[in-house]
Amino acid sequence: MYGLVNKAVEEMVCMHHGEAAWERIKERAGIDVDVFISNESYPDDTTYRLVGAASAELALPADAVLEAFGAHWVLHTAREAYGGLLQAAGRTLPEFLMQLPDFHSRVQMIFPKLQPPRFRCTDVTSSSLRLHYHTHRPGLAPFVVGLMKGLGTMYSTPVEVRIVAARDQGADHDEFEVTWSPAASA
Ligand code: HEM
Repeated sequence: MYGLVNKAVEEMVCMHHGEAAWERIKERAGIDVDVFISNESYPDDTTYRLVGAASAELALPADAVLEAFGAHWVLHTAREAYGGLLQAAGRTLPEFLMQLPDFHSRVQMIFPKLQPPRFRCTDVTSSSLRLHYHTHRPGLAPFVVGLMKGLGTMYSTPVEVRIVAARDQGADHDEFEVTWSPAASA
């Protein structure tokens, strides 16, 4: 994955636990990189090892680290560096979710070697939809849960996310039921 992802993990850890914790996490992961370059590709294994080491160092389940990372990704990484892209993608949470299937094709203009996730929306009602998530990468469903919660916060829209089919339990792909209530600011 692009270095932007590892940099964001670093930023999240440093923000909440300090730089010394981040140095210990890198050492535990056996990653000898001083500075991650945002637009350079790194093996996926680097990211998985960092998340695994963060989980051990912070005594948190890996799923909890991934979920926190999803929210951090939306509320800090994406919002601070790519706010324009996010804003152009929707004025409300449901609008944003409905265009999610096309979102990474715009990201791909900035990161040409991106191997993006694929999303699909079905069962759309005025307060819910079913989000289908396809990827070749294992174990990232909790990251998607965190992304949804981060988007809910960004749009001041209370949101609930339920995993209704899981690839690690034999389903073809992960599916989430996303339910929202009217935006507090609406
Ligand atoms: C402007 C904002 C965003 C940018 C710049 C961005 C960029 C990226 C990048 C660089 C990766 C790593 C993949 C690679 O390097 O091959 C990635 C992965 C991913 N992104 Fe985004 N992204 C953004 C917003 C979002 C949002 C809003 C969602 C969902 C709500 C999302 C869902 C994901 C997921 C699930 C992955 C994991 C990769 C996988 O499933 O295989 N991203 N994105």
